[in-house]
Amino acid sequence: MRILVTGGAGFIGSVTAALLLEQDHEVEVLDDLSTGHREAVPGPARLHVGSLHDGGLLDRVFARPFDAVVHFAAFSQVGESVRDPLRYWRNNVGGTIALLARVARGGAGRFVFSSSAAVYGEPPLVPIGEDAPLCPVNPYGRTKLAMEQAIADAAAAAGFAAVALRYFNAAGAWDGRGEDHDPETHLIPRLLRSLLVPGETFAVYGDDYPTPDGTCVRDYIHVRDLAEAHALALAWADGPGVTALNLGTGDGHSVHDIVRAAGRVTGRVVAPPVQPRRPGDPARLVAANRRARDLLGWRPRRSDVDTLLADAWAWHSAHPRGYAG
Ligand SMILES: NC(=O)c1ccc[n+]([C@@H]2O[C@H](COP(=O)([O-])OP(=O)(O)OC[C@H]3O[C@@H](n4cnc5c(N)ncnc54)[C@H](O)[C@@H]3O)[C@@H](O)[C@H]2O)c1
Repeated sequence: MRILVTGGAGFIGSVTAALLLEQDHEVEVLDDLSTGHREAVPGPARLHVGSLHDGGLLDRVFARPFDAVVHFAAFSQVGESVRDPLRYWRNNVGGTIALLARVARGGAGRFVFSSSAAVYGEPPLVPIGEDAPLCPVNPYGRTKLAMEQAIADAAAAAGFAAVALRYFNAAGAWDGRGEDHDPETHLIPRLLRSLLVPGETFAVYGDDYPTPDGTCVRDYIHVRDLAEAHALALAWADGPGVTALNLGTGDGHSVHDIVRAAGRVTGRVVAPPVQPRRPGDPARLVAANRRARDLLGWRPRRSDVDTLLADAWAWHSAHPRGYAG
């Protein structure tokens, strides 16, 4: 297939673009490098540097239609979205609508979208199925839900096939591509960088949650497993409308579990301080993933925490200050 990957200079987009090239697809990347890295884009992919908000650029990119679009480009920091919500609505929702307008005009027949467990908010039942109430609790999650809804309406009206992949916590690294956000808010890169870079700090936020060891429980999914799900979704997508699928392992790991695993994998002493809870952190977020298993035949293969941490540790050890360093 001829595939456009928006956000293909970012963490998950770059690993997915590399996998699609491995599978002999023709890949073009559209990325404004606002949070992504030119070095992450796999060599054979043509890179268009620019924003989804640049209508002229979109016209040029879509001059030749694609078979499929994989849409990663978005801002994704929850705290920043609370402080500056309109920036998130403009970039995430506005950018998606501009892209959908091209797709709906015959720009592509298939559309795979990076959604998020953030669309569920703080669900009453865990593991979380796709039919759980959609009640995001912050502007980032609300933009992801609005993007899903815009995609569903456009796909039904224009007749393209769409899949919304709701990732839980992406982590790990693959083939020279790792997680490099500034600021970094994700647990695993923050923890590993605190072991590598003097002055980088790491703390456990809250150990009095109603979980077995008192710390928050999350479902960590390896970036290569996510990339494989995208490739399977591209092959599977068929017929007008949108299908939402959770991408997680179905296993929850507490912050203390991850800290212990980091000690095992790195051979370092890892003993972070415990600080008070942060507002808005749900106690447990774990995916029910049967739908992705049944429909796509997807199986997470590298998401056991030791493999995931070992891959991330190898990348961060080689890039302690990220791509720029
Ligand atoms: N990392 C996670 O755990 C996680 C979990 C759930 C969902 N997601 C979603 O997955 C996607 C990828 O996440 P990531 O961690 O790889 O993020 P990332 O920041 O590394 O990648 C996003 C990419 O999109 C680009 N971009 C942003 N706005 C753009 C615009 N208007 N035009 C062109 N390019 C633009 C950025 O430069 C960056 O390269 C995001 O949509 C995110 O919301 C991520």
